[in-house]
Amino acid sequence: MMASAPGNLFFFGEHAVVYGKPAIIAAADRRTSASCERATGREIRIESEAFGTATGVLSEGAVTERRGPNELGILLELCEFAANAFDISSGFSLRIRSEVPVNSGMSSSTAVLCSSLAAILGEFGQKMPKEEYYKILYPFQKKLHGGKASGAELISSSVGGFNLFRKEGDGIKYESLGELPLSIVVGDTKVQSPTSLTVGYHVPSLMDRYPEKVAKTFDDIGALVEEGKKAILNRDVNKIGDLMNQNQELLSSLGLSHPKLDDCISEARKAGALGAKLSGSGWGGVMLALTNPEDQDRVAGAMARTRADVIKTKTGVAGVD
Ligand code: MEV
Repeated sequence: MMASAPGNLFFFGEHAVVYGKPAIIAAADRRTSASCERATGREIRIESEAFGTATGVLSEGAVTERRGPNELGILLELCEFAANAFDISSGFSLRIRSEVPVNSGMSSSTAVLCSSLAAILGEFGQKMPKEEYYKILYPFQKKLHGGKASGAELISSSVGGFNLFRKEGDGIKYESLGELPLSIVVGDTKVQSPTSLTVGYHVPSLMDRYPEKVAKTFDDIGALVEEGKKAILNRDVNKIGDLMNQNQELLSSLGLSHPKLDDCISEARKAGALGAKLSGSGWGGVMLALTNPEDQDRVAGAMARTRADVIKTKTGVAGVD
């Protein structure tokens, strides 16, 4: 059984969304695919193009004798969870291939979780609405993010499209903002930074030391997201770009950017981007630039001269399938 799930781009609101502010996130057309095949024995085997191979043995609902790289440990945990939740007693293999750059802020780990769950469900004849993936995968995502996560990326990768997302108490709320054919260029700085570093370590350390500044910045980001929603519904691309720039300044004021992100963002703006900002966790990874369609190639060329990997992408694509 084969399944795939998209990576994501945050137009507005990353980080603040972990603390209850809204965010606008879109599924991007870089996908991760996972295939699942049941085995005759009890071996659980995960083969990932990015990280290598991990193995374990399914024994009375537990995956024992775990071996392999740390990065695949979370998938062995997901396999153990699935074996218990769906009464799976035979071993199985998972093969993972991804077009989503790793540790880049484009939700590579979320796309792996969603596509792997879909492949396991399919192989073992289970059905689950995409909207429910969040409930199962949230604890895994939280662990990957260093103990805190909004879940916005899980919703985006599973249901797809363009969504306004917000955590509310113990629950979540999201609404589709419809189709949005925007001209986007993504720059991958190739500086890899695990989400857990900014989400689980840097931002909490700022909150301890400068609680008022961080709260005010998150309030400002929240207000900007509400304006972003209006701009999106009005198809006002100039306004969307302007708000993206403002969001970047706010993230930067919390020390979440990186010299290479700044470099790429500045070149994109000089070449005529309507707006440009980092996407996701920051400290490296990707940025996105919004352009008029006729300027897309020029902006992409300017970004490529910073030596970033440049991806012209579509946003608002289909979720897990
Ligand atoms: C990470 O890609 C996005 C953050 O907002 C964390 C989250 O939403 O869980 C920084």
